Amino acid sequence: APPAIIAPSILSADFAALGDACSRTIHQGADWLHIDIMDGHFVPNMTFGAPVVTTIRKHVDRPQTAGGKGTFDCHMMISEPKKWVTSFKGAGCECYTFHYEAAVSSTAATRPQDETSERTNPKDMIRYIHEVGMKAGIAIKPGTPVDVLYDVLDSRSENEVPDMVLVMTVEPGFGGQSFMAEMMPKVQELRKRYPDLNIEVDGGLSEKTVDQAAEAGANVIVAGSAVFGASDPGAVIQRLRDAVER
Ligand code: DX5
Ligand code: ZN
Repeated sequence: APPAIIAPSILSADFAALGDACSRTIHQGADWLHIDIMDGHFVPNMTFGAPVVTTIRKHVDRPQTAGGKGTFDCHMMISEPKKWVTSFKGAGCECYTFHYEAAVSSTAATRPQDETSERTNPKDMIRYIHEVGMKAGIAIKPGTPVDVLYDVLDSRSENEVPDMVLVMTVEPGFGGQSFMAEMMPKVQELRKRYPDLNIEVDGGLSEKTVDQAAEAGANVIVAGSAVFGASDPGAVIQRLRDAVER
């Protein structure tokens, strides 16, 4: 499996001191920053947009290599993911993860006649994100089966293949929820089919739940409250990493 990547979710950081919180968590050993973008429509909560990402980029050194330390992993919980690709590239995001559900339903709304659109739209999104110059991730909510992703993952056009799959382990929208262990078969299935894929899990990850995720095959671990709520965040980051590398 690919290397362990620990990506603290800044949703649980102090939004009035985000720059410091971001640089601190990187110095404490985080690989990536997981940046949750919510529009109040795709999910029942709002966070912030590209201007805030631009300001925190100034506090965190750019990664030296693709996917390296300091990567901004933007998790777009928004209904119109295509609309914001160039803005987030400009803001300094390296990996743009959109929701499969949003890509499919926005297509259905604009082109109700096109029966093939359900399957072609996520591919269009991935190709577009790559053309703009970012890594592309595709996320699925707990109610979405994993097999909807095989079409893109098996695409013979490299530009249409996502660099990462995000398997949500809570309903997106809020930090501090309980880990849904029943999502682990999705991770196992993905790892079996795609040994080199970056598989990210997000929601309820902590020292208590990370072993289940790691055993299933996840290598990118998002943790919000477990890291930012800890008295020693660096130790938590290290223990999350150990669980994946073990
Ligand atoms: C939830 C977000 C998560 C959230 C995770 O919609 O996508 O990234 O911050 O928070 P914890 O780790 O506290 O469950
Ligand atoms: Zn997230």
